[in-house]
Amino acid sequence: MNFELTREQLDIQEQALKFAKNEMLPHAQHYDERAELPLDILKKAWELGLMNVAIPSEFGGVGFSALDGMLITESLAYGCMGMNTSMMANDLALLPIIIGGTTEQKNKFLKPFTEEFKLAAFCLTEPGNGSDAGGLKTQLSIHDDHALLNGNKMWITNAGYADILVVYATVDTNLKHKGITALVIDKNTPGIIIGKKEDKMGHRCSDTRSVTFQNVKVPLENIIGGIGNGFKIAMKTLDHSRPMVAASAVGGAQCAYDYAVKYAAERVQFGVTLSKHQSIQFMIAEMAMKIEASRLLVHKAAWLSDHNLPNTQVASYAKAFAADSCMQITTDAVQIYGGYGYSKEYPVEKLMRDAKLIQIYEGTSQIQRLVIAKEIFNK
Ligand code: CAA
Repeated sequence: MNFELTREQLDIQEQALKFAKNEMLPHAQHYDERAELPLDILKKAWELGLMNVAIPSEFGGVGFSALDGMLITESLAYGCMGMNTSMMANDLALLPIIIGGTTEQKNKFLKPFTEEFKLAAFCLTEPGNGSDAGGLKTQLSIHDDHALLNGNKMWITNAGYADILVVYATVDTNLKHKGITALVIDKNTPGIIIGKKEDKMGHRCSDTRSVTFQNVKVPLENIIGGIGNGFKIAMKTLDHSRPMVAASAVGGAQCAYDYAVKYAAERVQFGVTLSKHQSIQFMIAEMAMKIEASRLLVHKAAWLSDHNLPNTQVASYAKAFAADSCMQITTDAVQIYGGYGYSKEYPVEKLMRDAKLIQIYEGTSQIQRLVIAKEIFNK
């Protein structure tokens, strides 16, 4: 058992955190207010090799382990959970290709992301099916040399800027999850209608839209993993990506904690700093415990994945625990700041708004408990 990071991992972490503190954090409030995606910041992150962390080296990626990816994600989320969502959504969209694609598909679809800055979108959720991913309705009809796609997707991160969309559709709704098929679509294919940007509570800079497909013609060679295998590819993707979301919760929580500790050491009430009041000490201690426990769960989920061991249950532990902890920690940071915490002139209210989404996307905290219970009782 070794809790120490390697020299290389410490370097990666330091580089990502430096980028987050210098290039992201100072601009986070600005882009949050304007609800604008900072493409220039994302591009700089790409240039430094901090994006698309999941792409294997044989397809042009840096060859990071899952744990390396978590260290980067946690650090970037420290700078801004919203910007990090956009970066992380690339991995979410590329993972199905990494997991289920042929060598030819990997060369075709992954390599361009290592050669220039590009965004991708993962299109699973629909207006009527969020948590019940297996009940999705978008239709894929298979013809001799192509497939036709019709349906609607909702809450799609990066939709307005994505070069490729990784879409889940069903060849027959009666087959339930066994009909679901994953495919890659070029954004310029006729029949794709991108909706307006959603005006969200948090992660306001990240680009979230609906996507409609009207008779979109897709080559059969763009189907990933064969017809009917899309649901399992999506679930395996989430096994990898949920710990990343958990890592982003750790980064956001760490940022809120750092602000709260600094403020508590400076703010004087009843003649002493807040840090001398036991009620505040207990809140800070609780935050520190939850951050450490969340981080350890993230690292364990990544370690399992790096050792090709099943990680579904631990990935859901990490996602639920880190997201719920981040919500509590950012809320307590606002509480410690008092009235100032509630003001947009101070940084912690944004963190609280951002934390909320982490309990919702990539499987709500309730869905994570459902996954954990399924793993416990169905083994
Ligand atoms: N790995 C491999 N296979 C898996 C699996 C896993 N982790 N989890 C389930 N499966 C398999 C099962 O073994 C089963 O296989 P068989 O048919 O061979 O028996 C099959 O998949 C169906 O499994 P379930 O019966 O468990 O499926 P279910 O319909 O009950 O649903 C669920 C399971 C966990 C609730 C799933 O629907 C789910 O995760 N829902 C949440 C959806 C979600 O996370 N959406 C996120 C959208 S992305 C997003 O938010 C991104 C963004 O833009 C930021």
